[in-house]
Amino acid sequence: MKELIDIEGLPKHVAVIMDGNGRWAKKKGAMRIFGHKNAIKAVREVTEASAELGIQYLTLYAFSTENWARPKDEVDGLMQLLVSTIRKEIKTLTNNNVRLLTIGDIQSLPASCQEELQEAVRMTAHHTGLTLILALSYSGRWDILSAVKQLMEAQAQGTLPTDVPLEELFEQHLSTANIPDPELLIRTSGEMRISNFLLWQLAYTEIYISPILWPDFRRAHLYEALIAYQQRERRFGKTSEQLQKHPQ
Ligand code: IPE
Ligand code: IPE
Ligand code: MG
Repeated sequence: MKELIDIEGLPKHVAVIMDGNGRWAKKKGAMRIFGHKNAIKAVREVTEASAELGIQYLTLYAFSTENWARPKDEVDGLMQLLVSTIRKEIKTLTNNNVRLLTIGDIQSLPASCQEELQEAVRMTAHHTGLTLILALSYSGRWDILSAVKQLMEAQAQGTLPTDVPLEELFEQHLSTANIPDPELLIRTSGEMRISNFLLWQLAYTEIYISPILWPDFRRAHLYEALIAYQQRERRFGKTSEQLQKHPQ
């Protein structure tokens, strides 16, 4: 499978909506949190495989703004899992030369989570391989609104640059500033929606829906997604004929 991937034509940035943990647990007659615990192996596999292939950015949607509305037990369980996992996985990140970043309203997370995250970000800051971006307490609308707020404040203080095009200025204030837009979005568990993920950044992203529930997602599933992506024609509004005349 891996040999079917064109290494020259890899996406620079892959984003993943890791979905289906609850259904995975339910099928086994277990509590939802059991599904979240079993999701860690999938995170590790996809991170390692991406790092090995030479993908530059991997963004994982781990907890959305809307997920705060889940039952308290589940939210507390997820936050505890986050703390214990980050600590344990620093070694995996280091072995794979992975740099960790976060996007989202990190200040809304429990203090213990914030501390663990800060520590992991600090300890991996010098790594030069894959950048793993965890989206936590994240939503696309939150991201857009916080960029707008920052711009409005700069405007009020008279510090808004006038020589930078607005689109560029806006992108510089998103949580993904300086990170290229994802070329590929993978969503697991067969659901066909964006669920308030990177709304601005996904404007021209290729979407790949996998029927696999996230805890069962393995390297081979990532390879399948990459191969499917490489068979797509990305037209960006142009016609197929235009692209064939001037192949990118
Ligand atoms: C994704 O799995 C993980 C999070 C949203 C935190 P779900 O927990 O949404 O699992 P399903 O969709 O209920 O199966
Ligand atoms: C999206 O999954 C959020 C994450 C994977 C973190 P959800 O399971 O929360 O999405 P909906 O509610 O089914 O759209
Ligand atoms: Mg879900």
